[in-house]
Amino acid sequence: MTSTTRTKLEVRQLDAWFGTTQALHDIGLAIPERAATAIIGPSGCGKSTLIRCLNRMHEIVPGARVSGQVLLDGEDIYRPGVDPVQVRARVGMVFQRPNPFPTMSIYDNAAAGLLLSGGRRSRADLDAAVEHSLRQAALWDEVEDSLDASGVSISGGQQQRLCIARALAVEPEVILMDEPCSALDPIATTKIEALIHELKAQYTIVIVTHSMQQAARVSDYTVFMYLGKLIEFGSTERLFTTPQKKETEDYITGRFG
Ligand SMILES: Nc1ncnc2c1ncn2[C@@H]1O[C@H](COP(=O)(O)OP(=O)(O)OP(=O)(O)O)[C@@H](O)[C@H]1O
Ligand SMILES: [Mg+2]
Repeated sequence: MTSTTRTKLEVRQLDAWFGTTQALHDIGLAIPERAATAIIGPSGCGKSTLIRCLNRMHEIVPGARVSGQVLLDGEDIYRPGVDPVQVRARVGMVFQRPNPFPTMSIYDNAAAGLLLSGGRRSRADLDAAVEHSLRQAALWDEVEDSLDASGVSISGGQQQRLCIARALAVEPEVILMDEPCSALDPIATTKIEALIHELKAQYTIVIVTHSMQQAARVSDYTVFMYLGKLIEFGSTERLFTTPQKKETEDYITGRFG
């Protein structure tokens, strides 16, 4: 990390459990602002759990709990009195399967976060916000003439960009993506990857991916996890060319996972 890189999210001594099963062990990590950080590692190593601890979604699972700290701009999101809904507004999430609200139009899907967060807006303000977020998600040109169509009437790749637009509309600072391309074809995947490239100029992005090629293409930094532990973190180029840990080397050379 260069001296000009500012940390957006700092994870300190983070442990996470599902009931009595400990899924994360003593994770420490400084996620740089306005960059893309990839999380890789074999299935079950805790990638989704870690990302879900970054916006207080882990605790939604019954019996799940967390100890340790996650500092967002230096403030612990787990300190008493913090409203998880506020945290999730600043740290948005895009899931593995595109999940537009099926009974809502494309327009209403893009506007959903704004409508849910309350606050009165004129129709013109809402129109402008919807167009802006659909443009940011590189979807506007494909849907501007069909904004009233159902959110699930478009292709899977378009639905995923609609979900990204929905996340962007509430103007988050961080966007978490848990395998956002795993249900998409290669062309749709390329579009999402190009979009991540655009978005990281303005947002801090954390992306879980099963694909080392994707991590190498889209991310500036990479985290390698194994068995609930953070094994190695560093610039993507460094981690893939000169891994410092044997587990990382074994994984990236395909010896396991
Ligand atoms: N809802 C749950 N209840 C109990 N245990 C869970 C639950 N979700 C995950 N786990 C366990 O926590 C550990 C970490 O799971 P997690 O989903 O974070 O892994 P992952 O790296 O995202 O895997 P994948 O690549 O398959 O998505 C695993 O051992 C898993 O079995
Ligand atoms: Mg997962």
